[in-house]
Amino acid sequence: MTATICGTGSYIPSYTMDNNDIARLVETSDEWIRERTGVIRRHIVKEETTVSMAAEASRRALEDAGMAPKEVDLILVSTISSNVILPCAACEVQKELGAVNATCFDLSAACTGFVLAYNTAAAYLAGGVYRTALVIGSESLSNLTNWKDRGTCILFGDGAGAAVLKADDTRKAALPVTHSDGGKGAALTCKSRHDFSGLADAGQSDPETMLDDEHYMQMDGQAVFKFAVKRVPEVIGEVLKLNQTGTEEIAYYILHQANKRIVEAVAKRLGEPMEKFPMNLQEYGNTSSASIPILLDEMNRDGRLKPGQKLVMAGFGAGLTWGAALVEWQR
Ligand code: ACO
Repeated sequence: MTATICGTGSYIPSYTMDNNDIARLVETSDEWIRERTGVIRRHIVKEETTVSMAAEASRRALEDAGMAPKEVDLILVSTISSNVILPCAACEVQKELGAVNATCFDLSAACTGFVLAYNTAAAYLAGGVYRTALVIGSESLSNLTNWKDRGTCILFGDGAGAAVLKADDTRKAALPVTHSDGGKGAALTCKSRHDFSGLADAGQSDPETMLDDEHYMQMDGQAVFKFAVKRVPEVIGEVLKLNQTGTEEIAYYILHQANKRIVEAVAKRLGEPMEKFPMNLQEYGNTSSASIPILLDEMNRDGRLKPGQKLVMAGFGAGLTWGAALVEWQR
């Protein structure tokens, strides 16, 4: 038994900031950002929240799947930037959708989050625990971005993507490969806004005035870059080997959209053509756990994905975490 993706959806905020807008905030330029990252603009939340984007992406995914909210058994939201802590974002999405029969929880693993959420849902479905699942990646990273730090604020954007999964009794499950290295976690950090342990007078001051740089995303860009270009091709190789699948069988590698140079380096190391590595980071920047489902939804809707095609989804990011999943497209 395995899981099949039977619908996708996404939501992108309409407000955009291009590289020239960023250059008005920090010392940088459109040319530098395009050359080093491939990003041209990013979409940023105004009225939207992580939950509202997740709910809208889910509505669109359920419509695409032809499934009613009441038919959903499991809702999983992958996010590091939820506007709510309690209740969890997945329960809020359930409420918005009226998916009254679903079990709901969140999962936090940064840019590997969607792959891990997909794997989790697929394992529940393959194990017969649930029959249907809604897997969502939704991020408002602009709320965690230090807009004074040119090393990070050029990279990130906001958005949400969702996929509907159904149990499939006719095919065998493909196994994923995932890894974590907490020992290298310092490369990408963001302290909780509820942790003021290092600050004086904790508990007596207004938390908003107590935020310091540690409460925004901080990154050793070069360390993350080196980690990604080494580990992502490795884990893709591992997942192909584990499932006895050759690179010639793969139609597309749907990578986390962090940086054009990372995607190009992964393609080169795998010896695969760039046509197999779709990208939309130029339009959205790095949307963490939303990037893979947003790209998947674009490809589903514009007809690039065809029944029977094999895809590899690969994520990497804070933790450090990284992983890959083999997907057979059946829609
Ligand atoms: N504009 C202009 N100059 C800049 C900027 C900027 N925005 N940022 C850094 N520079 C300067 C630096 O100060 C440095 O100047 P110096 O040589 O005078 O000291 C020079 O440019 C080179 O800096 P590097 O940090 O070496 O630049 P690099 O080529 O590594 O690019 C970048 C930086 C784009 C951040 C790159 O390292 C990268 O993409 N890393 C991976 C990041 C990533 O993917 N993170 C997400 C992981 S997913 C997750 O979990 C959220």
